Amino acid sequence: MMLSSYDWLRARGCAALLLFVPVLVGCTKIEAPAFRLNLQGRDPQDFVLTGSEQDQAQRDAKEQNLTALKGVSTILYAMFGSPDDPYIMPETALDPRKIKLAAGAAGMHEGADKTGQQRGLYRQHCAHCHGISGDGAGPTAAFLNPYPRDYRTGAFKFKSTVRAAKPTNDDLRRILHEGIAGTAMPSFLLLPDDEIDAIAEYVKYLSIRGQVEQMLLIKALDEGDPIDLKTANLTELAAEYITPVAESWTQAESMIVTPPDRPPVDTHEQLAESVAKGAELFRGAKAQCAKCHGPTALGDGSEELLFDDWNKVKQFADLSKKIADAEKIEDRKERNESLSDLQAKLIAEERKWLLPQQQVAPRNLRLGIYRFGRRPVDLYRRIFAGINGTPMPQGGADASNPSGMTPEEIWHIVDYVRSLPYDRLSDPQVGKGRLAGLDSWHE
Ligand code: HEC
Ligand code: HEC
Repeated sequence: MMLSSYDWLRARGCAALLLFVPVLVGCTKIEAPAFRLNLQGRDPQDFVLTGSEQDQAQRDAKEQNLTALKGVSTILYAMFGSPDDPYIMPETALDPRKIKLAAGAAGMHEGADKTGQQRGLYRQHCAHCHGISGDGAGPTAAFLNPYPRDYRTGAFKFKSTVRAAKPTNDDLRRILHEGIAGTAMPSFLLLPDDEIDAIAEYVKYLSIRGQVEQMLLIKALDEGDPIDLKTANLTELAAEYITPVAESWTQAESMIVTPPDRPPVDTHEQLAESVAKGAELFRGAKAQCAKCHGPTALGDGSEELLFDDWNKVKQFADLSKKIADAEKIEDRKERNESLSDLQAKLIAEERKWLLPQQQVAPRNLRLGIYRFGRRPVDLYRRIFAGINGTPMPQGGADASNPSGMTPEEIWHIVDYVRSLPYDRLSDPQVGKGRLAGLDSWHE
């Protein structure tokens, strides 16, 4: 049968359309982002079936791992939804309206909610550093030191509460207003209050989700007790996993460190005396500040490398040292063998982490730059509770730390720390009646 030119065109048009449709779809439909499973510290190879598994047992183990992961992602999806479409169970004690405002793709778009409110605040302002999943490993993260916070462990450094407690809403708001001095964390002071609140709520959402995920993964993979999706009861799982984490957030308000009144420093003499006492304590055995911050508080006191908790678990820095040591071995044959062995180990270790290990330095206290406020009360809280998730220990006495410092001692150290940016380190006369109290050190 002959085709009329019209039919031919139509046929060609269809073929052209068929050719174009996938291309168009490919161009316009952006795949919805998903939460990245938290496989930190686990070998990715344990979750990939390559077909080259050596034996049946290895294949079975991998298949079991994959089934366990599928169980965890399914439950997590049921509990928390997706980045574009979050689901808020009442057990989280979060405000679904705020979460909606912060979630989703950035800007006005078809996902904007029915009242026409903008969504996507987190993705617009935070995700390139803190990651869609709140894992602290967005595209910008690798360039930063310190890295952006990974919220998923539930640990936060900068807050007004006792060491192990969560930050309060005011703490989160303050961080968003002020940023974190001396780090890449910017200030979002220009955002309206309702947006700041929505973003803070979303940080809590990511953190609660991350902690629940961690617990579910430990149960499924490490304790070999995967969730059976056929019998799983979401309400029971939420009560067991979400409720305790959510409570740690709602309790934060009652965990604020409230210092008693400080000893009076109304006169220059009183202040000088307090600073001198603080200097003594700073270098003494009870407070041990100098052990890390150094006798002159330049931040150079620690004999060993320090890491915060997010980096401490990454072991491969030790391995680089071992490789350096192995390079020194005289015997060439022995050296080559041990080197390639160690290098293979190093690569395997590094593959387990989204970002390489990074050190944390004790602060140079002579700069007067503090990450969470410079008011006396801020420094008091920092010294009382230490910095959670970092080696800086709790300094203040309480039930968990009975041999810690009294409030009065902490106030003296606060005065000393506050005097440091004004102290003349290069002047050998320093401390002779001036605020520094370094005289005994210079003797
Ligand atoms: C340019 C990168 C960057 C951007 C953008 C960014 N952050 Fe951060 N954020 C950081 C860094 C770096 C830190 C500091 C980590 C440290 O001190 O260990 C941090 C710390 C934080 C902390 C404090 C965590 C703690 O342990 O106390 C919170 C909360 C936080 N960011 C929330 C946000 C939110 C919400 C947004 C978006 C509105 C945002 N950040 C945008 C880099 C960024
Ligand atoms: C085991 C080591 C260690 C000891 C002991 C220690 N610190 Fe620190 N300190 C650190 C580290 C590490 C940081 C930086 C943590 C970070 O920002 O991640 C820090 C940070 C600080 C900060 C900055 C807080 C801020 O808001 O930015 C102050 C102030 C401070 N330390 C004072 C003290 C005082 C006073 C003592 C003694 C009572 C002390 N430190 C004991 C390791 C230590």
